[in-house]
Amino acid sequence: MPDSHNDLPLDEASRAALAAEGLRYAVVDTDDADEHDRWLQADHRGFHFDALTTEQLAEYRPALGGTRSIGVWDATTAEPDHPIATVGSWRSTVSLGDGRSVDGWAISAVSVAATHRRRGIARALLEGELRAAHAASLPIAMLTVSEATIYGRWGFGPAAYTADYRIDTRGLRLTAAMPSGRVHRVSAPAVRAIAPELASRAHERIAGEVPARDLLWQRMFALSTRTASHAPKLRAARYDDADGEPRGFVLYSVAEDEADFAAHTVTVEYLCAATDDAYAALWHYVLDQDLVATVVAHLRPVDEALPWLVSNPRAVQTVARREHLWLRVLDVPAALTARRYAAADAVLLRVTDPLGFAAGEWMLTTDSDGAARVTAHAADPDGAAIIDLGVEALGALLLGGTPVDALRVAGRLAEGSPGSADRLAAVLRPARAPWLSTWF
Ligand SMILES: CC(C)(COP(=O)(O)OP(=O)(O)OC[C@H]1O[C@@H](n2cnc3c(N)ncnc32)[C@H](O)[C@@H]1OP(=O)(O)O)[C@@H](O)C(=O)NCCC(=O)NCCS
Repeated sequence: MPDSHNDLPLDEASRAALAAEGLRYAVVDTDDADEHDRWLQADHRGFHFDALTTEQLAEYRPALGGTRSIGVWDATTAEPDHPIATVGSWRSTVSLGDGRSVDGWAISAVSVAATHRRRGIARALLEGELRAAHAASLPIAMLTVSEATIYGRWGFGPAAYTADYRIDTRGLRLTAAMPSGRVHRVSAPAVRAIAPELASRAHERIAGEVPARDLLWQRMFALSTRTASHAPKLRAARYDDADGEPRGFVLYSVAEDEADFAAHTVTVEYLCAATDDAYAALWHYVLDQDLVATVVAHLRPVDEALPWLVSNPRAVQTVARREHLWLRVLDVPAALTARRYAAADAVLLRVTDPLGFAAGEWMLTTDSDGAARVTAHAADPDGAAIIDLGVEALGALLLGGTPVDALRVAGRLAEGSPGSADRLAAVLRPARAPWLSTWF
């Protein structure tokens, strides 16, 4: 079931590079179930996941049929029909806050068999994806990553971050006023139907969110064959505003402490709030449970408002923080003009890019309404701030989630005139820390 939207031509340079190594590089025909199954199994094997069962393959095939699934085959292997490398990609958006978003190319399932590693196959795959996305006029490419050491070399920078929290709920009081709507306990499948719509409304309020695909929602709600065994543990609640409109939901599970029946642990599996009231009410519900001593929440925003909702901010411990969404700028004017800015100024960005797509001198001029113009620089900067940076740093800065000054201190960008970094930081400052709440 190929999706014509994702049906970009195969990159000729990568095809030729791999052919020179005796390898075949091609798009998988996802209408051919056997070929698609072999690709899906190769991808799972590459990440050390369990092999997919017949039942799982039957579910994954239609769900992932629209992905542009590329394989690499080596005719000299013992099983030459099985790909020795995979990459999957599709068109997606990244939210930019203020109800805005930018189009991009989502890249996933990058795997190379243990027998074929470190021979430049991933390089051919990644460069092929970037050239194809650039040729299709997509302003950015995006990834979530298994290791943070891999993708900088192809110009990706970490643009949105997540945190894991551990909350000691014993004696904790909620100091925020309880909103006027109502929290309903509901079954997880009942929320599944409204989850994508609520999530898309929540995404309008923040930069960094990438719409989850159906299979991910199915997994999250324990409705996928791979996660069905979790269904009995999964609990849900929904927040309706004073008019009875659903505005958010929380999915969670509870683990018993066998030594102390009053010390259960609640794991927040997903909390989606399309309004501030939904946010406060759902956290109120989660924290205010009898027999629970600890609440843990993963993949949450780094600037979670939660500590300010409760009587003891120290009860909310950040136990991990990591980069999550990686962005690669392919078209500087399109990427930079898609978002809104926090200050009026002019910044000349002198961008280097080994692959060439973003290289150049770009004048970013922002006005007091937050709108921006970007022109390929020709004239004298005339009092503009001046920043020299690589495309990787530009990707890291795009959503305003990476501190400009940290990149300056680390030598990842340089000021062409004193004070330029502070001026760029003032322009980029987001209302909220960018956040991606799922993997893709
Ligand atoms: C990561 C992976 C795809 C790399 O494939 P590969 O074909 O061995 O990579 P290449 O030979 O093309 O390497 C290209 C460059 O990346 C570097 N590199 C590759 N894997 C790396 C890793 N895990 N960490 C750091 N650098 C890595 C190589 O050293 C090489 O560097 P250089 O050319 O700049 O000197 C492969 O190891 C793999 O399948 N890993 C398991 C699945 C996974 O984690 N995939 C990434 C998903 S986000």
